[in-house]
Amino acid sequence: MAVPTEVRARVEALRAEIRRHDYLYHVLDRPEITDAEYDRMFRELVDLEARYPELVTPDSPTQRAGAPPAAEFRPVPHALPMLSLQNCFRDEELAEWHDRVRRLLGEEQVEYVCEPKLDGLSVELVYEDGVFVVGSTRGDGRVGEDVTANLRTIRQLPLRLFPVNGSVPRLLEVRGEVYMEKAAFLRLNEERARRGEPEFANPRNAAAGSLRQLDPAITARRPLKLFCYHVGRVEGIEIRSQAQLLTTFPSLGLPVNPRWKLGRDLPEVRAYYRELLAARDEVPYATDGMVVKVNDFSQRERLGEIARAPRWAIAYKFPAEEALTRVREIVVQVGRTGALTPVAHLDPVEVSGVTVSRATLHNEDEVRRKDVRVGDWVIVRRAGEVIPEIVRALPERRTGEEREFQMPELCPACGGPVVRPAGEATHRCENLSCPARIKEAILHYASRRAADIQGLGEKLVDRLVETGLVARISDLYRLRREDLLAVERMGEKSAQNLLGEIERSKGMSLARLIFALGIRHVGERVAEFLAERFPSLEALSHATVEELTALRGVGPQIAQSIVSFFRNEENQRLIAELAAVGVDPRAGEPQAGPLSGKVFVFTGTLGGLTRDEAQRLVASRGGRVASTVSRQVDYVVAGENPGSKLDRARELGIPVLTEAEFRRLIGY
Ligand code: IVH
Repeated sequence: MAVPTEVRARVEALRAEIRRHDYLYHVLDRPEITDAEYDRMFRELVDLEARYPELVTPDSPTQRAGAPPAAEFRPVPHALPMLSLQNCFRDEELAEWHDRVRRLLGEEQVEYVCEPKLDGLSVELVYEDGVFVVGSTRGDGRVGEDVTANLRTIRQLPLRLFPVNGSVPRLLEVRGEVYMEKAAFLRLNEERARRGEPEFANPRNAAAGSLRQLDPAITARRPLKLFCYHVGRVEGIEIRSQAQLLTTFPSLGLPVNPRWKLGRDLPEVRAYYRELLAARDEVPYATDGMVVKVNDFSQRERLGEIARAPRWAIAYKFPAEEALTRVREIVVQVGRTGALTPVAHLDPVEVSGVTVSRATLHNEDEVRRKDVRVGDWVIVRRAGEVIPEIVRALPERRTGEEREFQMPELCPACGGPVVRPAGEATHRCENLSCPARIKEAILHYASRRAADIQGLGEKLVDRLVETGLVARISDLYRLRREDLLAVERMGEKSAQNLLGEIERSKGMSLARLIFALGIRHVGERVAEFLAERFPSLEALSHATVEELTALRGVGPQIAQSIVSFFRNEENQRLIAELAAVGVDPRAGEPQAGPLSGKVFVFTGTLGGLTRDEAQRLVASRGGRVASTVSRQVDYVVAGENPGSKLDRARELGIPVLTEAEFRRLIGY
């Protein structure tokens, strides 16, 4: 089918508009339209591309994510090597560098550009005729790794450059830094802790770990950002200085850090450094110093490089963020997810402008490895400028009064048993009703994909727990109208609605209930799988590690976690209580779910599912499977070599789904 000219034109116009708004939003932080208007445009483009797939081009804004996972990163040679920077730490060293630059340039006038040194990972982005074609990491400077598909998911990175004076450069090799903002890093770590995943040590590791993912879909979910600050090969555009580069890049759509300044002499460069140091905690990204670069590119050429670093630039690093202090006590904190973290309480000490009185020791192994004792003198550091940590203890200063740290056997918050799963470094309290965990446990229980109790948000949960109305999840089902009305700002209508929602949640499916408990490593998929294999929560609670690992799809880690969860007496009590208040779904019973009331018929062979599995999948979502096609049937799912049922479905006009469509419908 030929594509109508007006469609072609509309697609181009939409892309240009979306690119412009992406730039305004992600690069300039100055949106001109609402999110809803943007979404509308984006959806129109998606629809048109779906209808006319021949119009899809790799640089379309719809094509950022969606590349399949890679088996490995292909090596990419850099046409020009990616150099590193020489470092200095003191004003005198900076002055020496400046003197050398002046001497080598025959005492001619020299101007500098000063920029923050970003703490991320450097990348090269190759644009051919304005289109982003390859992106790579620095690697060893000569050969990097192909991370194109991952880089494409960074919304600040233009897939196509804007024309400047009517044209785009033939070739532009852009260099810059992929980084994660400090706030985003903290949020990511919080999320990871909640899911029981290891946390990143600092924003740089988080950025590197996120970019070096074989599956671009994972990178797409990480809040990565980009600043561009340098070039490799350039054809079809002339850039003669750093100042020109930093003003040209934004007009091409490339993000640059606006916090750069010209330094016309050494005092100006030093002033910039002090300014940057003072602003260090306020800027949203991690920075570990200033980079000073000779502005003029022809001067740079004359200066050349030594030992894989240019003579024309230097990194003036911030002072080491370390200080000496004493450990007063090591206190174990129970996090919202039940993780026990030893935290050193310190004699307050200033570390690069911030008073530090606590430092995390992460876990028991870390305390042993660093051999930190109560009373020890220690060196503390603000790692990635965010979380203070103890670098090491100074055993030579010990008096003999110091005390070794012991991980408690009972949870400091609820007094219940503490477990350390095999192969993991973290001790945990598994009691879902532990006061340290209860708020998070309720929020997860009530979340949309679990019990889906709408109106039970963070503030309300805080109030319910703090007033003592709810101490365990089962207490939710005992709430009365009067209780809720006594809660601040809760009106009659909201109270009624909430009670209705809580009541409705009793009908949730077994899969949702299993997921709602927030057992570590048991996500939605695993919960569905378990619900298909166990008739009730009670039955699951008696399963052994052997029984569980015998199931395809359940590894030893998941099995251990499930068994350990149900072994906890408080959790057993909770489950009995939930059943007593009416939360006790049984597999096989018609359940409330997204497919409630829907009838399916299967015909032909399914590629990735047995008929049994398909049946259970439908049932666990509230639907039913019939064996013959009638007017009561909502969908016919046709696999390979379908039989007469397919013809019958067509006769009756019943929607026919492929296996892929069926999976999409049920979200499996
Ligand atoms: S310019 C050869 N500018 O620092 C000069 N680099 O230690 C090319 N870096 O590999 C780099 N912020 O990853 C430049 N504003 C900035 C930078 C910067 C961070 C990184 C870059 C480089 C490393 C060298």
